[in-house]
Amino acid sequence: TTLRRTKIVATIGPASSSAEVLEQLILAGMDVARLNFSHGNAEEHRARALLIREIAARLNRHVALLGDLQGPKIRIARFTNKQIELQNGDTFRLSITHPRDAGNQAVVGIDYPDLVTDCSVGDDLLLDDGRIVMQVTAVTADALDCRVIIGGQLSDNKGINRRGGGLTAPALTEKDKIDIRLAAELDLDYLAVSFPRDAADMNLARRLCAEANCQAWLVAKIERAEAVMNDDALNGLISASDAVMVARGDLAVEIGDAELVGIQKKIIAAARKQNKAVITATQMMESMIHSPMPTRAEVSDVANAALDYTDAVMLSAETAAGEYPVQAVAAMARVCLGAEKNPIMRRSAHRIGQQFERWDESIALAAMYTANHFPGVKAIIALTESGYTPLVMSRIRSSMPIYAFAPSRQTQARVALFRGVYTVPFDPTDSFSTSVSQAAVEELVKRGIVAEGDWVILTKGDSYHTVGGTNTMKLLHVGHIAA
Ligand code: G6P
Ligand code: MG
Repeated sequence: TTLRRTKIVATIGPASSSAEVLEQLILAGMDVARLNFSHGNAEEHRARALLIREIAARLNRHVALLGDLQGPKIRIARFTNKQIELQNGDTFRLSITHPRDAGNQAVVGIDYPDLVTDCSVGDDLLLDDGRIVMQVTAVTADALDCRVIIGGQLSDNKGINRRGGGLTAPALTEKDKIDIRLAAELDLDYLAVSFPRDAADMNLARRLCAEANCQAWLVAKIERAEAVMNDDALNGLISASDAVMVARGDLAVEIGDAELVGIQKKIIAAARKQNKAVITATQMMESMIHSPMPTRAEVSDVANAALDYTDAVMLSAETAAGEYPVQAVAAMARVCLGAEKNPIMRRSAHRIGQQFERWDESIALAAMYTANHFPGVKAIIALTESGYTPLVMSRIRSSMPIYAFAPSRQTQARVALFRGVYTVPFDPTDSFSTSVSQAAVEELVKRGIVAEGDWVILTKGDSYHTVGGTNTMKLLHVGHIAA
């Protein structure tokens, strides 16, 4: 069977919280399970996390857990009758003083007091991911008066964005701080920060994580216009993160959908260049919320993200609340595998003419050059503590599977996000009678991945359990390895 290289992040929600569905999601190809802290309570997330880990362990799979902080999403409050219908040309007021539960045809409350100071006359506000558009016609001390440009149904708690971005809400809310403690308690592998404006927001998140003793790798969700305004802004944000997410929902609302595809490609390339993993998210298989089959456009969207070498593609409501969660993962897996047959996926022109910054990076990239050019190589073994060595390797286009031989549970799960990287639990200090190289290769022989006569590339350092210590690449001929 062919190994799929593009990884799948699936959001867990009411449609996917039972043991049966979770097991099927894992078997269908879920590599990372996303817990969305915008919905559900701590009990629900705790139960889901435990269940996923339990089932994955039973199935002998490595599934990473990603928590997604709600962040300062600005929302309207609620209506007396749950929803209203706005017509084009209607006037409508957003008020910071109107009672929270008593919205009506003319006015609704908002929870973000700064909205009135952040906005001015002429601004376009986009509600419910841009389905409804209104223009600010007057600003008072406690309200924005607007004229509806594109009407439609508006219901409780829908989000508000400003076209062009620039709302000043800080990235981490009080609720996020509580959820960071939950992430620490659940030992999540990744934690996504919503709406970071710049590196400072990520640094703050990192500090809060350190205080809570949360070990998760931090994912910056790229979803504000400011974050993609210029290369310095984007690169600064990426460099302060461990991974990034192209969070297309809010991003498209702020920058306009016409700009989205170009920016998505740019973010993927920029993340890979900085040795960071990247997730492409939002509406990838949207129609599968109600249909067992994706549209051709969705197939094309997923395949193109894979061709651009994203580490992972993500499902949101499709798996959290849809009618066909398992089919959605299966469809994504199938489409990624299909895209990966394209020959441009296997060749690399990456980093030609570039200098390497670190010795472990040099070894990792030398391994990929060898893997792509030395006939007979069937697999790469990266002995890794943190997952960094296989992460760097997987930035290079190749069809060669990269096996992360990792001792800790955390790293075993973490690498599940990385493109073309597969987990093998392994502690080099356990192999007493044989050499570490021999023990590692035997593990792949035992799994039927390589056989006598194949070549295997192995990387490691001089001492074991040293992050950043990789300084050696070995070419091993299976069946001819000295003890
Ligand atoms: C394992 C190997 C070490 C190597 C390390 C690299 O522990 O036994 O020899 O130094 O991985 O870990 P890293 O986190 O940098 O990929
Ligand atoms: Mg968002």
